[in-house]
Amino acid sequence: MPDCLIPADPGVPSTPVDAVASDRLPAVLDSLGAPAAAWLRATGFAAGAGDIALVPDGEGNLASVLLGLGGDGAAPSMDPARLPGKLPEGVYRLRDGFFDLAFATLAWALGAYRFTRYRAESSRLRRLTIPAGIDGGEVARIADGVYLARDLVNTAANDLGPAELAAAAADLARRHGAVFSEIVGDALLADRLPLIHAVGAGAAPERAPRLVDVTWGEEGDPKVTIVGKGVCFDTGGLDIKTAAGMLLMKKDMGGAANALGLAHMIMDAGLRVRLRVLIPAVENAISANAFRPGDVLTSRRGLTVEIGNTDAEGRLVLADALTLAGEEEPTLLVDLATLTGAARVALGPDVVPIYTEDDVLAADLVRHGAAVADPVWRMPLWRPYATMLDSKFADINNAGQSPYAGSITAALFLSRFVPADAPWLHADIFAWTPAAKPGKPEGGEAQAIRAIFALLTERFAA
Ligand code: BES
Ligand code: MN
Ligand code: ZN
Repeated sequence: MPDCLIPADPGVPSTPVDAVASDRLPAVLDSLGAPAAAWLRATGFAAGAGDIALVPDGEGNLASVLLGLGGDGAAPSMDPARLPGKLPEGVYRLRDGFFDLAFATLAWALGAYRFTRYRAESSRLRRLTIPAGIDGGEVARIADGVYLARDLVNTAANDLGPAELAAAAADLARRHGAVFSEIVGDALLADRLPLIHAVGAGAAPERAPRLVDVTWGEEGDPKVTIVGKGVCFDTGGLDIKTAAGMLLMKKDMGGAANALGLAHMIMDAGLRVRLRVLIPAVENAISANAFRPGDVLTSRRGLTVEIGNTDAEGRLVLADALTLAGEEEPTLLVDLATLTGAARVALGPDVVPIYTEDDVLAADLVRHGAAVADPVWRMPLWRPYATMLDSKFADINNAGQSPYAGSITAALFLSRFVPADAPWLHADIFAWTPAAKPGKPEGGEAQAIRAIFALLTERFAA
């Protein structure tokens, strides 16, 4: 459970927080004493969305807090996420008027996140008691999954190479009684995962490429496999990135971080699935051993791949992992990957493009994403664009020459390595919040996993 949440305990004094839609403000002011109402009027509190007011008692002490909802407050909102950063130190309890108390509690937790590995936080702690009547365990497991994903993304690449990413997966597996295994270095060739080996070949020996494999749950339950892109640093390889393009590339394991965060939610909830998490963990480094533009590699699937650009490395490591995943015919196959800059050009940092041939899956995920403020948007697997990946010598090129439709062509590349008709979903995530918003502190971000967890809960609840 995040530090900012504490179990409801009537013995702990707490300050109440009331949510106020602007059309209810007059009634709320009438219910407060005259001095408090006068104070709120004098300070111009209008209960606009996200407005916060501190309400005094007769002696000038803090009696309660009002959070404006704007309009009529008839939708779940991230605005409670503003509270932990703005209120005085203390313990609070959410009281009236929130559209959904569980969601408001989660929003508080998402907004209270701080990354403290490299610098102690001087800021004061504002804690929230978990309201009676909500499923506090569910809120805590979602927040913990998000925190795990954010912590992993925020950790600097010098502290989080392929070995450390694997260790984080092993640690999560141990906590949940899951089985962890990994295939490291040259063993990737013996086990026929040549693309993962090639992309990671340029890294230092202690940062050798690997495939992490975590399984959990009853063998007979529906198989859900989650693949996460674990590029612990992406220099671009010999097709080196610009300084500006490389600056944030510690986050290129954001797919893996999100896969682990989602796995935590699934295992902690005890969903009735046979879960498998596959993480190709590599560093796309530059050295004499690095793979080269023009190299032709034979994938696990048997397709030959011409390397048009060593910076299109994510799709290569995912290709072998997706092929391996498809071999056991999962009920649902999901991959999460910081795959293209083009996805950001299309939908910006907050909205995640998703790709699937399954109309029901797409519609369900968009619906859940909207309901939990974790937005995803369906994009087309537009087959005619597959010609942009034609190779002169090999079955396929990993990059192609066209400047257009980069997120779509990346998804089409992946689709070649997934069995036809496989129930597959691909999410091209950013895993980063460039400028803080309510519930989204600047830095590493969990994306699409709260939406996917809601969908899995609907389909596979214990
Ligand atoms: N990790 C990057 C994609 C990325 C870049 C995600 C910036 C988020 C922000 C990926 O490996 C990459 O470099 N993709 C290239 C593909 C191109 C060479 C075909 C891209 O998007 O430019
Ligand atoms: Mn790249
Ligand atoms: Zn990358």
